[in-house]
This record gives sequence, structure tokens and C-alpha cells, in this order.
Amino acid sequence: MKDVIVLGGLNMDLIVETPRLAGPGETAEGTRFYTTPGGKGGNQAVAAARIAESPGSVKMVGRVGDDGFGEQMAGFLKSEDIDISLLSKTDGIASGIAAIFILPDGENHVNPVYGANGLCDRQQSSDVEGALSTAGVLLCQQEIPLSATKASIDAAVKAGVVVVLDPAPVRDVPDGFYDSVTVLTPNQGEASAMSGIEITDAVSARSAAVAIRNVGIETVIVTLGDQGAWVESDGISEFLDPFVVPVVASVAAGDAFNGGLGVGLASGMELLDAALLGMASGAICVSRDGAQEAMGSKTEVLALMASKTS
Ligand code: RIB
Repeated sequence: MKDVIVLGGLNMDLIVETPRLAGPGETAEGTRFYTTPGGKGGNQAVAAARIAESPGSVKMVGRVGDDGFGEQMAGFLKSEDIDISLLSKTDGIASGIAAIFILPDGENHVNPVYGANGLCDRQQSSDVEGALSTAGVLLCQQEIPLSATKASIDAAVKAGVVVVLDPAPVRDVPDGFYDSVTVLTPNQGEASAMSGIEITDAVSARSAAVAIRNVGIETVIVTLGDQGAWVESDGISEFLDPFVVPVVASVAAGDAFNGGLGVGLASGMELLDAALLGMASGAICVSRDGAQEAMGSKTEVLALMASKTS
């Protein structure tokens, strides 16, 4: 397997489980609070590292602040055998955090404050560039400044490295931002926003994927949560059924998908098999509490995948 480089956000997730969200000016008591390392970049890195072939083959590029959360997040990534030598620390700024409210059906509402993530710049794109020679895949999202992400994408494409971009959270992007991305992985809401097509089923997911792909992206995978995923690429136009698992919390499900997909592609799997690996990783993640801590082990993810093919 070639290396997986993850460029992106790291947040300490402050999670409140609550029967309902408070309305304007109202106070509504929650039932449980805990903190867990998160952020879309960090989550993708842990999802990938837990199923990667060798320790250190997942590299995290990003920024934390000089606070306890930053130390905890870096420590957690290291304990997962992720190479954090390209993780920068900035003095005098808080690390990213995300306030997350989880409702009884597992649905989540996320309000991040990006802190140090917002200072990602040319340092990060040159860190990515320096790591490309042994990489098969670059995973990115939209929680850090788009200029750092775009420079990294361009360098990766030039080096022949596959770029997987999760367009989350939805942001206004400059013209041409997605042009050289190899695989774009919007969820239902993101794909609707990008294509202008309301997605209600597999057929509309396909229409959205085709429309998004028309800007020149090689592959578009529209993830539909517990409804499956649509994969649209050269010679491939296919719906993948979901893995059915009990949903505890859907936080980081998309990140788990991208981490699994990234490892599949870096290992030379065919696109549909890599997407299935991503879906199995996502399914394990939603069946547990937490973000990075919820990611499935290699044994769990492969066993779930095998349950579909047997
Ligand atoms: O995708 C889930 C992640 O989004 C959470 O871990 C939170 O930190 C936000 O960035």
C-alpha cells in the first residue's frame, strides 16, 4: 500500500446528547456530555490508519494551537500510528473545537470554531508536496483555508497522486477549485447544493452525480448515509446498497467513508471495491459513540465487507 496523506481540520469535539435542541432563548437540558478528538481531517486519518497495512503509512498535515486540546489531539493521532511529523503547532491560538448536539435518533448538529485550522497556509501545502513521493492518495475536505487545499491538490495531481476531496462543509469555492480533483465525495445535502438537483432516491443521486461530474471530475460518489451510495465514473454508473447496522451517532460517518475509500485506492483496489471498503468503515463508525474513537478496526471493517459478498 502507498501512503495516504490527509490534509485537513482537527477539532476537539464537545458532544452533548440531548432529547431535543433548545429553541431561541430557551434552555433544554441534555443527558450526557463528553469530549472526543474529531475534525474531518483527523477523523479521516484515524479511519484510514485503523485499516491501513502498516504503521506510519497515514500522514496527517494540519495545524493545532498551543493548548491542551491540541496536545490531546496530536497524542491521539500518534497513538493510532499516524505520522504527525507534519502536524504544525501555532503559539497563542486555540485549537479547533466543534460543539456537537446528538439527538436520540443519532442525528447530529455541528457548530465548529476552527481556531488554528484557519491558519493553514503555504506551510501545509509545501508539507503535502514534500510527502508526495511515497503517496498514493491525498485526502482533503473544506475545514481549512481553500488556498492551502487547492495548492496541495495541484501539487498532488502533478505528482500523479489520486486526490479525494470531501466537499464538506459546504462553502463557496473559487471557479476551477474542483477541476483537477480525482474523486469528489459529496453527501446528499452537499450534492444537492452543488448540482441544484433535489436528491430523494438513487435516480436523483445519479442525476446529481452526473451533473457534478460534468465540470471535469473523474469520479463522483454521492454518499446517502443509511441509503447507500451512488458511484459515477468512466464506465461505471452504479448504486451500492448500504450495510445495515444500528445507528448510535452519525458523527464522522462521511469521514469514515473517505478514510476507507482512501486506503482502498492507495492499496490498488478497484473503485467499487474501495467504495465498499469506505461504506463498511462508515457503517462501523455510526454504530458507535465518538468521532475518531468510533472508527472501525481492520478486522471489523473487513468482516462487515465479507458479510456482503458471502
Ligand atoms: O465530520 C464530523 C466532524 O465535523 C466532527 O468531528 C467535527 O469536528 C466537525 O469538524
